[in-house]
Amino acid sequence: MSIVIKGGTVVTADRSFEADVLIDGESIAAVGPGLSGDTVLDASGAYVMPGGIDPHTHLEMPFMGTTAAETWESGSFAALSGGTTMVVDFVIPENENLIGALNAWEARASRQASADYSFHMCITGWSQPVFEAMEQVVARGVNSFKHFMAYKGALMVDDDQMFASFQRCAALGALPLVHAENGDIVAALQQKLLAEGVRGPEAHAFSRPAEVEGEATNRAIMIADAAGVPIYIVHVSCEQSHEAIRRARQKGMRVYGEPLIQHLTLDEGVYTHPDWDYAAQRVMSPPFRDRVHQDSLWAGLSAGSLQVVATDHCAFTTAQKRMGMDDFTRIPNGTGGLEDRMPMLWTRGVETGRLTPSEFVAVTSTNIARILNLYPRKGALVAGADADIVVLDPKAGKTISAARQTSIIDYNVFEGFEVRGLPRYTLSRGEVVWSQGRNDLPRPGRGRFIPRPAFNPVNRALSTWKALVAPRAVTRDPARMPIGV
Ligand code: URP
Ligand code: ZN
Ligand code: ZN
Ligand code: ZN
Repeated sequence: MSIVIKGGTVVTADRSFEADVLIDGESIAAVGPGLSGDTVLDASGAYVMPGGIDPHTHLEMPFMGTTAAETWESGSFAALSGGTTMVVDFVIPENENLIGALNAWEARASRQASADYSFHMCITGWSQPVFEAMEQVVARGVNSFKHFMAYKGALMVDDDQMFASFQRCAALGALPLVHAENGDIVAALQQKLLAEGVRGPEAHAFSRPAEVEGEATNRAIMIADAAGVPIYIVHVSCEQSHEAIRRARQKGMRVYGEPLIQHLTLDEGVYTHPDWDYAAQRVMSPPFRDRVHQDSLWAGLSAGSLQVVATDHCAFTTAQKRMGMDDFTRIPNGTGGLEDRMPMLWTRGVETGRLTPSEFVAVTSTNIARILNLYPRKGALVAGADADIVVLDPKAGKTISAARQTSIIDYNVFEGFEVRGLPRYTLSRGEVVWSQGRNDLPRPGRGRFIPRPAFNPVNRALSTWKALVAPRAVTRDPARMPIGV
C-alpha cells in the first residue's frame, strides 16, 4: 500500500516547490510532479513539510517532589496533533545510575509513545561509574548529555564536573547540552526574597534575572571551548544569553542556541497576574521575559545565531503547581507547548514575515536533525527519509483552549491565542496518525526509539582543528639550555 500526498507545496529547509510526495511503507519513495499511489491525501492549498522534531521534553519527569503529569501516551499524541512527529526527552538518573535510568525511560516510552522518540542523558554528578557509563549510553544510540547549571542541591553540577563531562563528550563524539543559569546566585536570591516576604510566583522571575542566564551561558561556552567540544544551550530566553552565543559563533565556535516558543511569545507580566494559579501555571526556568528579549530571540532565528525552537514541555497540573502556594521555590518548574509549537510559530513567525516557510522548517525540524545526527532520516523530505510529514494548512485556525486540547493538563499557557497553520494530516513513518476533523486516537506502542550515532561531522571537524592547534612542548637544543648552578 502506497500513499501519495498530492497538490501541495513542498517546503524544505532550502526551498519551496510544487510537488507530490509518494510514500512506500515507512519511507518517502519520491518527491516530484504527477506521482500516483494507492491512497491519495489532498494537500491543495497546503504546505507539505518534514514533521516537527521537539528536542526538549520532560514527559513523566520526576521533579521537585512530584512527577510531570503529561505522560508519554498523552504527550506524544499531543505532539502529533500539532505536527510534531518526534520528541527527544531528558533521562534523569537517580544515584548516578545512567543505564538504570535509560532503561526506565525506554520502558515508559516504548509502551506508550505514539510518536518516534529519542533521549538525552543528564549528567547530575561526576564519578568513575558516570565516566564509564557514558560510553555505554553512546553505544545505546544516545549521543547528547545535558548539564544543569541551576537547581542547586538537586540536579546542579559545577564547573569542574562540567569540564570533566565535556571532555568525555569530546572523546566519545557526543554533544553536551546545558541549562545555563547561575544556580548559586539563583539560590541566594530565592532565600533573600523569601526572607523579605516576597513568596508568590512573581518572586520566581525576580530570582532569575537575565544576567544570571547570560553569565552561565558564557561560562558554559568557555568550558566547552576548553574541552574542544560543540555545545548546545537549551531554553535561551534573553538577549544576554543570545549575545554570548552570537559572540562565540562569530569567533568560529560551534555553539547552538534553542529558544522556546513560550519565550518567543509570552511576557514576564504573567507573573504579576492577580490570580495566583494563573501566575504559578507559568512558572518555568528561565522565566518569561519582556519584549526586548523576545525581539532578540526572533532576530536570532532570522539571523541564524539561534537555530532551534523547542518547548521544554514539562507539564504539571494546577494542583501540582499549588505545592508552592506558600513558597514560590516549591512551585514545580515547567510549562507545556508540544501541540502548540508549530501553529504558534507559524502564526507569530511566518505570518508576520519574521520567518520564511523554509526557515520555519529549519528551526522546527531540519536544524535539530542535523545537530543531533538524525539527518536525513528525520528532518528531510527526500527519497529514503522516514515518511514523517506534516501537511500544514495555512488557512486552518483555532483559538487555543485547554478545554479542547489533546494534552491532559487542565490549562494552557497560550489560552485564548488565535493560531493558524494547523496540520491537515500528520504522518509518522508513513502512517496517517492525525487528520483534522477525524477522531484520531493515541496509538501507544507504535512510536519507536531512534538511535543517534556519535561523531557527527561537526564533532569531527572540531576535534581535528583542536588537535592541530593543541599546545605542544618545545624541543630545545641542550646546548642552548642554561647551565645549572
Ligand atoms: O522549568 C523548567 N524548564 N522545567 C523543566 C526542567 C528544565 O529546567 O528544563
Ligand atoms: Zn567541584
Ligand atoms: Zn532547563
Ligand atoms: Zn527542560
